[in-house]
Amino acid sequence: MKHVISDKFYQLTNKLIPGGVNSPFRSFHEVGGKAIFMKSGLGAIIKDVDDNEYIDYVGAWGPLILGHRPQKIMNALKDITDKVMVTGAPHELEYELAFKLNKIMPSLEKIRFVNSGTESCMSAIRLARGYTKRDYVMMFEGGYHGHLDITLVSENHQSSTGIPDNVKINTVMAKYNDIDSVELLFKKHANKIACVIIEPVAGSMSVIEANHEFLHKLSKICIEQKTILIFDEVLTGFRVALGGSQSLSGVKPDLTCLGKILGGGMPIGAYGGKAQIMDYLMPLGLVYQAGTFSGNPLSMACGKAVLNALSEDGVYEYLEDMTHIFASNLTQFCQSKNYPIHIQRVGSMFSIVFSAKPVLNYADSLMIDTIKFAQFFHYLLDRGIYLPPSAVDAACISKAHKLEHIEKTLEVCYKALSNIYNLSTS
Ligand SMILES: Cc1ncc(COP(=O)(O)O)c(C=O)c1O
Repeated sequence: MKHVISDKFYQLTNKLIPGGVNSPFRSFHEVGGKAIFMKSGLGAIIKDVDDNEYIDYVGAWGPLILGHRPQKIMNALKDITDKVMVTGAPHELEYELAFKLNKIMPSLEKIRFVNSGTESCMSAIRLARGYTKRDYVMMFEGGYHGHLDITLVSENHQSSTGIPDNVKINTVMAKYNDIDSVELLFKKHANKIACVIIEPVAGSMSVIEANHEFLHKLSKICIEQKTILIFDEVLTGFRVALGGSQSLSGVKPDLTCLGKILGGGMPIGAYGGKAQIMDYLMPLGLVYQAGTFSGNPLSMACGKAVLNALSEDGVYEYLEDMTHIFASNLTQFCQSKNYPIHIQRVGSMFSIVFSAKPVLNYADSLMIDTIKFAQFFHYLLDRGIYLPPSAVDAACISKAHKLEHIEKTLEVCYKALSNIYNLSTS
């Protein structure tokens, strides 16, 4: 596969944009090589600037649950842009999307729309602090909540320089799926913890479903401690089920953060939850949050169209069937060959984990063989299969993926793995 034009863009872009990317996820720094410049997409297929085609399992890192440019979303976009782009004033579509969202996720009694998942997590945490009048935030090692200071403080995983120590000291880190670690932190910081933020299905240390019993206990402790429970469903919302992962576990968070799929392909974030907490936001309360593009008509129109499409009969059954066929066949193949690989998935989000045992938390994720994953990634890429360029980040199947795409992908995966393991044992 040739990448002549892409390589040229890569060189040029690197001169003006750090690392050639506007989000580090897109670079190939974890797997080696140069990021590929894409130019178009339709259905399950994405095409690069050299006209190479790939079956796309990145799905724009989550949003494209209906595939690229689905007709219903394109129609909604055309209808709204025939009338308006942005107004800076309230628009009826904000009500319509909020109404639909409240029906789909009843824990969102009131909702605020913002522009990204990061913004939704940042705003929900500020609201929790304003409401409880406490400073501390509990999160889970290996969790990802966007690029806000307060959750990029781990000494071990995704973190950043440039975050002052007096910000870092307000974040305490528990272990995913480990209620003892949560209890210990509550004992140590009694009456100080404003909120616990958790991805109920983790997507950045491979796909890990939080144990439902663990989530129920976590919710109980939060109620006892008068701490706000925030579910970060930016990735899982409308992905693992229409009602998000909260509809699977039955645990009702105080606040929920959303993004990705909710915009139907347009930029969006949203957070919502108990009315008595949400009413602490300005102009009713004293917690400030604002945004020029928040609730803009384009994102609202596409959001409404995607939720309508996802509410149709059979969508989640289809996604489940396709992902099950992929995951069960690949698992069987790996087991039959004794390859140390696990397919971890919830609904249509999955990761192919190169590890001898399943990954249940951040420490387990460190055991993943990232070198073998990089070989696997490039083998697939060269044969027209586009996976996230990361051994731990979730891949996604969309409604546009047909059985023929899954079968072709399986075939290439089998060859890739035979190649990698036969080479490594010879
Ligand atoms: C669980 C989770 N929360 C928050 C974010 C941040 O969202 P955004 O990239 O839209 O700012 C992401 C992005 O990948 C995510 O997966």
